[in-house]
Amino acid sequence: MFETLRPLPQDPILQLMQTFRDDPRPDKVDLGIGVYKDDAGNTPIMTAVQDAERRLLEGETTKSYVGPAGSAGFNNAMAELILGSNNPLIRDRRASVIQTPGGCGALRMAAEFLRLCKPDIKVWVSTPTWANHLPLLGGAGLTIREYPYLNPKTLQVDFGAMLETLEQADPGDVVLLHGCCHNPSGADLSLAQWQDITGLIQRKGLLPFVDMAYQGLGEGLDADAAGLRHLAGEVPEMLVAASCSKNFGLYRERTGALALISATATVNAAATSQLLSVIRSHYSMPPAHGAAIVETILGDDGLRSAWQKELNGMCQRILHLRHAFADSLSSVGDFSFIARQRGMFSFLGVSPEQVGQLRKEHGIYMLDSSRLNVAGLNDLVLPQVAASIREVLVQ
Ligand code: LMR
Repeated sequence: MFETLRPLPQDPILQLMQTFRDDPRPDKVDLGIGVYKDDAGNTPIMTAVQDAERRLLEGETTKSYVGPAGSAGFNNAMAELILGSNNPLIRDRRASVIQTPGGCGALRMAAEFLRLCKPDIKVWVSTPTWANHLPLLGGAGLTIREYPYLNPKTLQVDFGAMLETLEQADPGDVVLLHGCCHNPSGADLSLAQWQDITGLIQRKGLLPFVDMAYQGLGEGLDADAAGLRHLAGEVPEMLVAASCSKNFGLYRERTGALALISATATVNAAATSQLLSVIRSHYSMPPAHGAAIVETILGDDGLRSAWQKELNGMCQRILHLRHAFADSLSSVGDFSFIARQRGMFSFLGVSPEQVGQLRKEHGIYMLDSSRLNVAGLNDLVLPQVAASIREVLVQ
């Protein structure tokens, strides 16, 4: 049976990661996959994570099963991180949070759950969106619709076009929004725009689904969640997929969470039981280690403040790199949008041929779409990268 299968190309982001690793040039620069890099070009283990792991190694007493929802301590801590401590949704038991294998696990389990609620459900995603949203949601059988988000000429949010298209959505349709640090564009909604979208969602009876993969890396933990929290406070139902890959640097530990908000505590208990049954039939229960690290950090004042300080340092460094990068390209065009955008990614706005030239002739790796990871830059390589881009652009 297997001989009928044709080989598939790898996911473009993962393929680029491999091509970069295979490139023997010592001065190559990886601006492809979304991982944070320090001044030395390494993706470090955060200090609080190392300390928490040490504590876990010494204090862990069992490796017994945790159950489909994962650790209750992690889930409570994540509920407060996402929704804010003292959020009435938590107090009123209208919100439940369950641990998932990464943000991807949360996205996929949410999609399976949504199909269970409504087999012909449609989900509206931004154009562009993270490429893996499509197989994660579409693979679960959801019908994908697109709403325009980024004006390809200005590389800024085309909010008018977004609203106009979402007016065509039917009641019960799902709208996927990026909580902050939009991937791939870095162009985020302002709080006023979140308020407008909230109004549209309420008026049309849509179900909001927020992907929160970069909380803390845009402007700060609370600022990045402000739009999501506003929305959560206004609508009866909502889903949030959160990732600890970037803000805790736990990429390979596959640590994430899915928040389910319902109109009442009774509805939430029933909906959560359905979600847990979906999980049991997919992977039974999530891996424990990454969540145990997060739970240890968030549950200890010292570790928590060390983590926040380091995360804030990463966030400020990305903002600095955004400004320095935009300035270094100012002689060949207006790249000020890069300084205004948030999180790891921006489009450079060059052609696939120019992206190819940068890769081939200069060892600079970014996605074919010209999405680049600003957090892959540092003050040492930035002049070299900027000089190469300027050279390619003036040809
Ligand atoms: C990215 O967009 O580069 C990251 O989210 C990593 C991934 O899995 O694609």
